[in-house]
Amino acid sequence: MLIHKISEVKEKVKEWRGDKNIKIGLVPTMGALHAGHASLIKKAVETCDKVVVSVFVNPIQFCPGEDYNEYPRTLDKDVELAESIGADLIFAPSPDEMYGKGQRLSNDTLAYVVPPFFYVNKLCGKSRVGHFDGVCTVVAKLFNITGADYAFFGQKDAQQLVIIKKFVNDLNFPIEIVSCPIVREESGLALSSRNKYLSDEGKKDALVLSKILFNIKACYEKGITDVSALKETAFSYLTDKHDMEYLEFVDKDDLEDKTKADNNTLVLIACRVEGVRLIDNILLA
Ligand code: PAF
Repeated sequence: MLIHKISEVKEKVKEWRGDKNIKIGLVPTMGALHAGHASLIKKAVETCDKVVVSVFVNPIQFCPGEDYNEYPRTLDKDVELAESIGADLIFAPSPDEMYGKGQRLSNDTLAYVVPPFFYVNKLCGKSRVGHFDGVCTVVAKLFNITGADYAFFGQKDAQQLVIIKKFVNDLNFPIEIVSCPIVREESGLALSSRNKYLSDEGKKDALVLSKILFNIKACYEKGITDVSALKETAFSYLTDKHDMEYLEFVDKDDLEDKTKADNNTLVLIACRVEGVRLIDNILLA
């Protein structure tokens, strides 16, 4: 069932709940669904009685000059895939429906959920200023619109996941956040809607991200814990096809920087290939 209006989602959820004690799951997405999203929807269907998948390319999480206009939009296919896995409702609002017709999308006229600076002023947040304000705001709206008991997010966007858990905890949102593992191609490439921008050659070059991470994990397992030494191992993989933005080692729960790696260390990488900004991460546990 495809719904575009907030009021209709609320009505449907009210009808589902009736006087029954059911569990509602939400899988927030920006569409262009791939096997990574499919794994989230599957987990939601296994965990919950009813599942809502939202498909919304959220304008307020794109920074000036980013790919908001180009971002792939494949709603018909998305609905087909989500329903084939067992989703009960696909919510695909327009920006006007989400933020109000004629509303200027800026934090001097629109209320935002602003995550703590410490969590935002690093990793992806450094180059994507305002991105996580936009993510938290839309996610909070989706939580309120659907009244979901559980929400499912991929570990691929690791900083996003930590920040969402943080605001849910700090602001007492009555929802449980379920984190799901990264889905990779057989080659190791982490699935992403933005992989669609890459040529075949670019996809090969993009393997460097997962290769660097897998190698770091192998080195850690051999006993190397010094973060500078682990970072050094990345350089042999990089060529002029790679524009590295960061390679960082942080605590998996609070994003505190690490100088010595341990089992709670999350290694995150961001690198441009053919101008496409790709991210990936691995836990050294
Ligand atoms: O991860 C995404 O696709 C988006 O950031 C999200 C969580 C759906 C919010 O727009």
